Amino acid sequence: MKRVRSRRRRRLRFRLLLRHAVLVVVLLAAGALMFVAAGMAPVAADAGHWPVTRVLLHSAMSRAVEVRAMKLRAPPLDDLALLQKGAGHYATACMDCHGAPGVPRRHVVRQMTPTPPFLPEKLGRMTPEELFWVVDHGIKYTAMPAWGTRGRGDEVWAMVAFLEQIEGMSPQRFRQLAYGVDGDDDSVLGDCARCHGRDGSGRGTDAFPRLAGQEGAYLLASLEAYASGKRRSGIMQPVAADLDEHERRAMAEHYAKQPAKAASVPVRAPAAAEAVARGRRLAERGNGMRRIPACAACHGPGAGPGERNRMYPRLDGQYAGYLALQLRLFRDGGRGGTRYAPIMERAAAGLSDRDI
Ligand code: HEC
Ligand code: HEC
Ligand code: HEC
Repeated sequence: MKRVRSRRRRRLRFRLLLRHAVLVVVLLAAGALMFVAAGMAPVAADAGHWPVTRVLLHSAMSRAVEVRAMKLRAPPLDDLALLQKGAGHYATACMDCHGAPGVPRRHVVRQMTPTPPFLPEKLGRMTPEELFWVVDHGIKYTAMPAWGTRGRGDEVWAMVAFLEQIEGMSPQRFRQLAYGVDGDDDSVLGDCARCHGRDGSGRGTDAFPRLAGQEGAYLLASLEAYASGKRRSGIMQPVAADLDEHERRAMAEHYAKQPAKAASVPVRAPAAAEAVARGRRLAERGNGMRRIPACAACHGPGAGPGERNRMYPRLDGQYAGYLALQLRLFRDGGRGGTRYAPIMERAAAGLSDRDI
């Protein structure tokens, strides 16, 4: 009898406690709502964060990035072509907020909360995998943007290769990587020239394709495809989207007029004779069993203007590493392109890494 009563009393006390707890939560929520409705929430960027908010947000961000980066593995990053690509895009898309060696941040960004760190001095101790994750996905509520397109990990790794070396990099070295010898007067061509050279011959590495002697129609359609996002590149997309139609046409015409120089392109490792013979066989005859068409049917050789379809790019004299990258992208569905791109996706579908 006594035990039953005490059990009932305990249950009653518990219910009372529960009711109080619910009441407190409801009151708090109502208070918060009134606080927000009355326009009292502290949103002013010039006030900065309270130290406790800053620490909480920053450690939440660091931990989230650390966990998500665990699945990644960095490829080898010590490569001049990757550095040029990363530095070139850094000057396009990151420098205004983060500054660069010898280049301060724009004044307005210093009024942002959180303030974008001056990366040449304050990159922090992030692993390459963590850097990759941050640059690929961006950080919510901070203005740190995501990469301009999905599925271009190769481009994001190039940025990581550059960020790995940004601390202590001299201003001269940065200028040389991001601008080359040709780039940076304030003209449109001066901007293209940073990466492609004024004469369209690129920068002597696999980083940037040679544009010289390509058909104007192909160049123009490719610029339009980048601008609309149909050809996926976080590096070319913002550049192409910034041009108006007249500028796109002028650039396409300029580069189409440049003489395509004789094909003497540095190849990373001299290709073995066996590989060259095999490539030649595929290019000339294809492989019917594996549904690989003869590349030469569309791409040349020596097919001059008028003989080759104006939408089929010329491949002779192009950088080997660029060709291999584009073939992998076509095969794996990551490239997109003009409305003729599906033709090429089909042509690349059967290629193995060795074929490429
Ligand atoms: C509109 C301004 C803006 C642009 C453009 C921008 N960022 Fe950021 N970025 C930020 C802000 C703000 C943070 C700070 C986030 C924080 O404090 O939690 C940040 C953080 C970072 C971090 C992490 C640094 C650290 O120590 O926590 C890296 C790395 C980074 N940005 C790289 C880049 C790269 C590479 C680009 C260009 C592709 C870029 N950012 C473009 C605003 C920007
Ligand atoms: C920061 C470096 C950079 C700048 C600046 C740049 N490009 Fe590019 N461009 C690239 C890269 C990298 C690619 C290859 C992207 C890919 O993988 O699709 C490319 C590809 C291209 C292509 C496609 C070539 C082909 O064979 O399919 C065209 C056309 C082009 N760029 C034109 C231009 C023009 C015109 C400008 C100036 C308005 C310009 N680019 C500025 C880096 C740059
Ligand atoms: C039926 C015609 C056709 C055949 C066959 C063909 N291609 Fe292509 N190729 C194209 C077209 C069209 C494009 C341009 C796609 C676009 O507009 O984005 C292209 C683009 C390319 C590019 C990208 C060039 C650049 O500047 O970005 C490479 C590399 C390439 N092809 C290699 C090959 C190889 C290797 C083969 C043989 C296995 C082959 N192609 C067979 C039509 C063809």
